[in-house]
Amino acid sequence: SSEKTYQHLLVSTPKPGVGLVQINRPKALNALSTPLIAELNTCLRALQSETSISAIVLTGSEKAFAAGADIKEMKDLTFSSAYGRDFIESWSDLITFLKKPLITAVNGYALGGGCELAMMGDIVYCSKTAVFGQPEIKLGTIPGAGGSQRLTKAIGKSRAMEAILTGDNIKAQQAGEWGLVARVFETPQECVDGAIKTAEKIAGYSQITVKAAKEVVNKSLELGLRDGVEYERRVFHGLFGSKDQKIGMGAFTEKKKAEWSNE
Ligand code: CAA
Repeated sequence: SSEKTYQHLLVSTPKPGVGLVQINRPKALNALSTPLIAELNTCLRALQSETSISAIVLTGSEKAFAAGADIKEMKDLTFSSAYGRDFIESWSDLITFLKKPLITAVNGYALGGGCELAMMGDIVYCSKTAVFGQPEIKLGTIPGAGGSQRLTKAIGKSRAMEAILTGDNIKAQQAGEWGLVARVFETPQECVDGAIKTAEKIAGYSQITVKAAKEVVNKSLELGLRDGVEYERRVFHGLFGSKDQKIGMGAFTEKKKAEWSNE
């Protein structure tokens, strides 16, 4: 369960319905080694199936969200072993299977795989200390966990090209202005608290509605406008079959607070 202890993660429930996962590998600035990613997978799967958890916050330390894939582990990899075991595939798998909202709260370095992991959040928050970047080019490689795709979708081609081709960092304020993050907080603590607060708010809604809302927004990244709008409308229609749509609109009409059934 989510109470399990991990070597590289700290897991807690700071508010009802909210799971907080903190990456904790300080000696390597939270570099994302294979064992760490395996733990993150296990942990997120546990939170996913925990009915008392409705939203998840993923953060690192004040110094580093994550300084990337583990370079020391990766350096001697060959093409055939990387291709053979589809190195890094399990990273995005772990996030894309998640049906519950995930907020990433970024303080300090979010470089390479760290930036890619941050961008896998449904909502990305950061503090002024955050430093984003895809510095792989300096190592003789390229982003491998979705960076070239997600960064381009988040900030546009020209800015993403500049970041990926130069390896230059993107500072917090810039990340805010470009929409890489939804909000920039003053301090790391405020960033994590802000993420928990947002998660708590989301956890207060009908979980069936939250799931549908996340699903339709994600579809916009995959579908053209016409298909996307139609998909949204079908899911919207489907929600008239839920109890919580009746509860929500009924409560509005009766000027009462909705008590969700999650059905
Ligand atoms: N992998 C393995 N170890 C790492 C690491 C990484 N990505 N990042 C930092 N560390 C280790 C350092 O080797 C160091 O360990 P030792 O004390 O044993 O030497 C420790 O963490 C502390 O790091 P520094 O001494 O370098 O700390 P700093 O404050 O001087 O610098 C930093 C911080 C600028 C983030 C620097 O550590 C750095 O440049 N890290 C690498 C960033 C990077 O290139 N990330 C991309 C990785 S490739 C990738 O992620 C591929 C992909 O797309 C999936």
